[in-house]
Formats: sequence, C-alpha cells, structure tokens
Amino acid sequence: MTSEPKRALITGITGQDGSYLAEWLLDQGYEVHGLVSRTSRPALGRLAVVEGRIVLTTGDLLDQGSLVRALETSRPHEVYNLAAQSFVPTSWSEPVSTAEVTALGVARLLEALRHVCPEARFYQASTSEMFGKASPPQSETTPFHPRSPYGVAKIYAHWATVNHRESYGTFACSGLLFNHESPRRGEEFVTRKVTRAVARIHLGLQSDLRLGNMDARRDWGHAKDFVRAMWLMLQQDEPRDYVIATGVTHTVEQLVDTAFRCVDRDWHDHVVQDPALLRPAEVDHLVGDATRAREELGWAPKITFADMIREMVDYDLASCARDAQLPVLPPTL
Ligand code: NAP
Ligand code: GDD
Repeated sequence: MTSEPKRALITGITGQDGSYLAEWLLDQGYEVHGLVSRTSRPALGRLAVVEGRIVLTTGDLLDQGSLVRALETSRPHEVYNLAAQSFVPTSWSEPVSTAEVTALGVARLLEALRHVCPEARFYQASTSEMFGKASPPQSETTPFHPRSPYGVAKIYAHWATVNHRESYGTFACSGLLFNHESPRRGEEFVTRKVTRAVARIHLGLQSDLRLGNMDARRDWGHAKDFVRAMWLMLQQDEPRDYVIATGVTHTVEQLVDTAFRCVDRDWHDHVVQDPALLRPAEVDHLVGDATRAREELGWAPKITFADMIREMVDYDLASCARDAQLPVLPPTL
C-alpha cells in the first residue's frame, strides 16, 4: 500500500527562496502548492525549474479569505511563509504597506491556519535584520534592535509566530536567517546588483557601478543551503526557533573585490560611491552564531562565499550576453 505524499504550501513561491524550497521539497517527495498573486508571473523566471510539477493557488497576504481558501484547497501538512515585502529600502518609502504584508500578513495567515488546519506545521521567514544594531555574533538569545521598518515588521511576525505556538500549541518555528543569495536573487539586492554589474561592465554594456555604504558587514550564505534548514526545522520532535548563518562575515567592499576579481578587473576603476544610496539607518555588522542549528538540526552550510559569488558572476555573464541581443535597459537600483 502506498501512503499519500506530504503536502506543503509555500507563500512567496515566486521569490528566490520559494523556488529553491519548491525544488528541495519535490526532491523529498512532497506535493508542493504555491500561493501566487494575480500579478505574479509564475510561469516565467525562477519557477521555470519546477514548471508542471507544482500546484499554484491565487491568494494574497493582504486578503484573509484568500488565505483560508488556499489552505482549504491545498490541505497542507506544512506551511512555509516566505512571502514579504523584503527589500529594506522600500520599507522606508512604504512603511505602512510593508507592515501590512510583512507583519499583519502573518497574523492573517496564522488565524487562517488555526481555523482550517491547526495540525499543520508552520515556518516563518524571520531575519537577521531583527538584530540590527545588536553586537555580533548574534544568536537566538540576542536582544532585537531593528534599524528599518522592515526589521520592525519582521519582529511583529516573529513574536506572532512564537505567541501562536505558546497559545495554541501549534508546531510553529521562526527561522532567524542571515543574508542568503544566489543567481536567483532579486537584482536590487547588493550581491546581485554587483555580480550583474560586473558582468555588464565586462561585456562592455555598462561603465560604472554606483553603491552606497561599502563598510557594512554581512554574513552571506547560499539560498540553496538555507532552504534545507527551513525544512529541517519542521521535521524535529519539538518546535523551536533557530539562527541560520555561516558564521563568516564580509564587508560590501570585500564582496565587490571578490566579484571583480572573477573577471580579472580592479573594482577601483569602476565603482562610484553615491550618498543617495545610503540608508536612513544602517545595520553595520551581522555575523550569526548557528550553534543550535548545527547541534539540533545537524545543519551546516556547504557552499562557500567565494564559490557563490563565482556562480553568480558566471550566471550573469551568460544571461547578460544573451540579453544583449535585446535593447539594453538601464540598470536597476
Ligand atoms: P523575495 O525574493 O523578495 O520574495 C518575496 C516573495 O513574497 C515573492 O514571491 C512575492 O511574490 C511574495 N509577496 C510579496 N507580497 C506578497 C503578498 N502581499 N501576498 C503574497 N505574496 C507576496 O524574498 P526571498 O529573498 O526569497 O526571501 C524569502 C523570505 O525570507 C522573505 O520573507 C524575506 O523577508 C525573508 N528573508 C530573506 C533573507 C534573504 O537574505 N534572502 C534573509 C532573511 C529573511 P510576487 O513577487 O510574485 O508578488
Ligand atoms: N541593495 C543595496 N544596493 N545595498 C547596498 C548598496 C546598493 O547599492 N550599496 C551598499 N549596500 C549595502 C546596504 O546598505 C546593506 O548594508 C548591504 O549592502 C546589504 O544590502 P541588501 O543586499 O539590500 O540586503 P539587506 O541586508 O539590507 O537585507 C537582506 O537581508 C536581510 C537579512 O539580513 C534582505 O534579503 C532582507 O529581506 C533580509 O531579511
């Protein structure tokens, strides 16, 4: 007798992490459902790798009824809430809509979960941005000190998740993930902005790269490694919250240097510092202590920073060369 496969619902499936998590869960034998909005273009881009192998349901974290319907349709054993307004600068220009999606969206989803499938296990995509100004290394016991409306919204979502677990006994986990990147990273985030610019400069499509604060330090890992940790959290006997990080930190300047070296160029010849790209408040130094994840989940990252940047530059060299056949659009922020 064959048992029915486990079902998972992923919100934010069209994002960087959503596509890697969908691939990982399919490899584990899951039936994968994804929540997409009417304006998402799931057939394109990142989801091409899982096209035809996942079930898409329309819905929005802003709309409670759509979340209820998505849960009723997919009947998930596990729910991964990856949806958010996730770009930090936008959280200053749109603090209210950021809070509506990134904070209150989680309250809506948890309420829907409580009524439709209270037995389902729940993962909340929390972030090192919640630590903000706190001194490194940051661990599960480090007090939060957010430095952006995005960080503030994520703290609401984190505590909503913890409180749901404590109030109703839900198997709910908050994953405190440090920055993670890949060739599927949005082009507005600094790693992808840099690797794409390196590729375009090397191909003669762009001459310079404008950046803000190059002294900020981040603990950058690979998204492929990090989605495995999300899944591991939901396979434990007891729900807990975990920091997921590599424990290695680099400055933005070191990132830039690593990326330009991939094409044997000196970044000093191309990078322009632009005060307009500085943030109203900065997170200066993130480096995570993932001891709990290592000891309890058996998790450790496999892909190094240098290998990840090389993979991203190679991907952007290939895709920018292909795109060069088309009219060249101005680079994004
Ligand atoms: P991402 O690429 O920006 O993806 C965000 C996803 O959220 C997209 O699929 C987007 O869908 C969806 N979304 C936005 N508003 C929505 C709404 N109102 N209703 C439903 N879906 C909505 O983010 P990511 O890098 O994959 O990160 C995944 C999650 O982890 C996010 O919650 C992020 O805040 C968090 N996180 C990320 C990192 C990191 O370094 N990547 C670190 C810590 C935590 P459409 O674009 O199709 O509308
Ligand atoms: N985006 C961007 N663009 N960042 C720049 C630039 C630039 O031109 N120049 C310097 N930076 C600096 C930022 O000031 C910041 O210190 C650092 O590069 C990283 O910026 P992002 O790549 O935009 O990521 P983030 O750290 O603000 O946020 C990401 O990681 C969080 C986890 O810590 C996002 O993925 C968040 O959603 C996530 O929670």
